[in-house]
Amino acid sequence: MVQVGAHDGRAGHDTICAVPRSPSDSRAPIVAMIGGGQLARMTHQAAIALGQTLRVLAAGPDDPAAQVTPDVVIGAHTDLDALRRAAQGVAALTFDHEHVPTEHLERLVAEGVTVAPPPQALIHAQDKLVMRRRLQALGAPIPAFSAVRSVDDVDAFAQRTSRPVVVKTVRGGYDGRGVVLARDLAHAREAVAGYLADGVEVMLEERVAMRRELSALVARSPFGQGAAWPVVQTVQRDGICVEVIAPAPGLPAEIAAGAEALGLRLASELGVVGVLAVELFETETGEILVNELAMRPHNSGHWSMDGARTGQFEQHLRAVLDYPLGDTAALAPVTVMGNVLGAAEAPQMSMDERVHHLCGRMPDAKVHLYGKGERPGRKIGHVNLVGAPGGSPDDPEYVGALRERAQRAAHWLSHAQWTDGWDGH
Ligand SMILES: Nc1ncnc2c1ncn2[C@@H]1O[C@H](COP(=O)(O)OP(=O)(O)O)[C@@H](O)[C@H]1O
Ligand SMILES: [Mg+2]
Repeated sequence: MVQVGAHDGRAGHDTICAVPRSPSDSRAPIVAMIGGGQLARMTHQAAIALGQTLRVLAAGPDDPAAQVTPDVVIGAHTDLDALRRAAQGVAALTFDHEHVPTEHLERLVAEGVTVAPPPQALIHAQDKLVMRRRLQALGAPIPAFSAVRSVDDVDAFAQRTSRPVVVKTVRGGYDGRGVVLARDLAHAREAVAGYLADGVEVMLEERVAMRRELSALVARSPFGQGAAWPVVQTVQRDGICVEVIAPAPGLPAEIAAGAEALGLRLASELGVVGVLAVELFETETGEILVNELAMRPHNSGHWSMDGARTGQFEQHLRAVLDYPLGDTAALAPVTVMGNVLGAAEAPQMSMDERVHHLCGRMPDAKVHLYGKGERPGRKIGHVNLVGAPGGSPDDPEYVGALRERAQRAAHWLSHAQWTDGWDGH
């Protein structure tokens, strides 16, 4: 209240009489998020606690965030007029996905909109080739890569690296779509030929021989403050994240510290504002390589909603509004997140009944559902299991038991089947 009074130059107590335009404080800052998916939905959840309302630009009224926020603009993220409507009067405009055309964002900036992250930073999360070249110039550790002009580039690249080849679309990929881990050279050539025939720009990477995948999640504010969460392990199946273990078990302290520092350095060098996820590979020889960047809340940070002092959605809002950042310390020795992915065949039992049963069997499971229809493999929610005190990320038994429970909870929510055969009746 006092802050609001200070803003419009009136005495603090005057503002108590202000009539709110909506159930929320009419002079709280408005943040617009482009895209109405689950990330916007959960950012809105954090906005509520800060006394704000998140405005979303959603493709339709049934989008996960459009269902929950009263401030919705329906339109396409590729439509400049829709973007302008969403940007009207906002303190900052930010993203649930990275697919907004750069020229539109530059127009908005020219018209005075605070775009966070700014377009010249966001490009590194939109275009994997631009990102690889920039990281190379910054001396960040990355896999060997190559641009592609013709199918013949595949053989030249494979010869240079002597490694299996990964073909990636330069733009627009997500959840493994647009990534081909080629079986052999013929497969790689075939994939490249197919994409090029469709006019899709592709690039090549060496297939990294890895122990596992990690993620360094950080946030940066325009003021220049940075904050890093503990480095986590991510588990992918068919290119989709299925599980996150926070912190990454058994990761040597100096590697973890190095990865956090790398995340903060990249956020600063690239001028990121908001949350930055740096997807990493831990190679078989223990090296860290950067896979890709996301400049928004990220699946690898969902654990922080229940497992950290400040969750990534609140932190993203703080960062784009240039507030001081929150404490990122973990609340438990280990937190495990299990993604709820739509089953091959949606169960007969309603989701509500599944939630009901889960509450009964696992009172400590924290459920987050996105309001999405169940389709095979689709991310429809996640479950966080926050470990009991006294354990350690370096204790395989403690971590294993927590992972088993998170997987059991997530599988139950998607399949209405207990992985351990338990029968509630
Ligand atoms: N160079 C690589 N070597 C080995 N595996 C890779 C490589 N690039 C991607 N992958 C695998 O494919 C997944 C998806 O690739 P990524 O570039 O992150 O695409 P997306 O944009 O779909 O997340 C990664 O999480 C990893 O499991
Ligand atoms: Mg990825």
